[in-house]
Amino acid sequence: MNKRGSFDSKLGVVLASAGSAVGLGNIWRFPTEVGQNGGAAFILVYIAFVLFLALPVMVSEFVIGRSSGTNIVHAFRKLAPSRWWMTIGFMGVLAGFLVLSFYSVVAGWTLKFTVDAVAYRISGADPAQAFNSFVSDTWSPMLYMAIFLLFTHLVVIRGIRSGIERYSKLMMPLLLLIILVLVGCSIGMPGSAEGIRFLLQPDFTKVTPHVVLSAMGQAFFSLSVGIGCLATYASYFKKDMNLPGSAVHVCAIDTLVAIISGFVIFPAVFSVKGVHPDAGAGLVFITLPHVFSSAFAQMSWLGYFFSVLFYLLLLLAALTSSISMHEICTSFVSEHYNLTRKKAATLVTLVYLVLGAACSLSFGPWKDYTLAGMTVFGWFDFATAMFIMPLGGIFISLFTGWCMKRGLLTDELTNNGTLKVRGLKFLIFLIRWVAPIGVGMVFLDQVVKLFN
Ligand code: PHE
Repeated sequence: MNKRGSFDSKLGVVLASAGSAVGLGNIWRFPTEVGQNGGAAFILVYIAFVLFLALPVMVSEFVIGRSSGTNIVHAFRKLAPSRWWMTIGFMGVLAGFLVLSFYSVVAGWTLKFTVDAVAYRISGADPAQAFNSFVSDTWSPMLYMAIFLLFTHLVVIRGIRSGIERYSKLMMPLLLLIILVLVGCSIGMPGSAEGIRFLLQPDFTKVTPHVVLSAMGQAFFSLSVGIGCLATYASYFKKDMNLPGSAVHVCAIDTLVAIISGFVIFPAVFSVKGVHPDAGAGLVFITLPHVFSSAFAQMSWLGYFFSVLFYLLLLLAALTSSISMHEICTSFVSEHYNLTRKKAATLVTLVYLVLGAACSLSFGPWKDYTLAGMTVFGWFDFATAMFIMPLGGIFISLFTGWCMKRGLLTDELTNNGTLKVRGLKFLIFLIRWVAPIGVGMVFLDQVVKLFN
């Protein structure tokens, strides 16, 4: 067996976990959902889900990971009374493969837009046409995707301390700095008040059951919970880490970044006449290029600065998340098959290249290969965000709350009684009851609708 690494510092742990959480989900998916689902009302529902459902699942993952000190499949083998529980671990590894496969396609687009922004080539004339012709091409999106996967690979093979921790400590502060500069630029634009109002004024008539469901899916996706990603990171935590405290920090950073991204995007979007906030998935790749070119027509250097920083931000966020997804699979493959990290990571990257290529082709030559109306990309996204993540969340919280050896949960949460955790009883109540029942209800509702 290879010797396992560990994170060196508490800051490193929080930044790496926050790096996993903060990703395209915050900057690309969150504003899209807010735009389509009625602004501030969606944000409020979202925050409730983060606090009552996603946070307890995150703490559970931390407990499972640190107490077992191994990858997500072996963690269940070690801690669970029955081998059946390993299925949940396998589901996590499967999700690790599926999520990064479609994620790396969007990350590849981001890389292309970053390169274009730097080269002053973002097209403002007909951004929709430019975007569509790029993504429907066979080779170039695949090439960008492969380069992005290579970056991810290069960090993962260096291991925990000199790879994941070191790069998270470098990239996360940079990311936070960039987003603060951007929010300043965006709020300073003429007409931005309307965008701010959109974000702050809740319109509860827009909160339909569908919105509630999207908010939960979004909370799970954005916090990377339900597939053992954070459990994998926690298996490298030291024994004196404060698990509930770190989880609260990670949730807070992630939610703040998501909301601030809203403040970067919407004031800018509203400052251009004729552009709508509910533009959907194209918001970042079609609407924003249009905004860059019109809003900054007079001050093109500011437009240049804004667009370069924006896509760089998105790229950094995607990279710190992709590393964590890769790590779920690499740690499993290396420990299960007793391979060195380098060999395991290489195998995993090769699988990603193949699956990612299939996702990339879903926008071009394979556009018409659909099942129940969804392409390969659509299926991977749907299967993970709507199915595996909530299901994983239910079982992970049930497991931590009810099936682990008695006393282990409290021991882990309080570091064997040496740590005083405020609201400990409430947290355990959330883990045992609120998270599994809450997620279960939303999930069942979804399945019933699917079959109707
Ligand atoms: N949380 C990441 C984001 O917001 C996505 C992610 C999902 C990362 C699952 C790891 C595991 O983009």
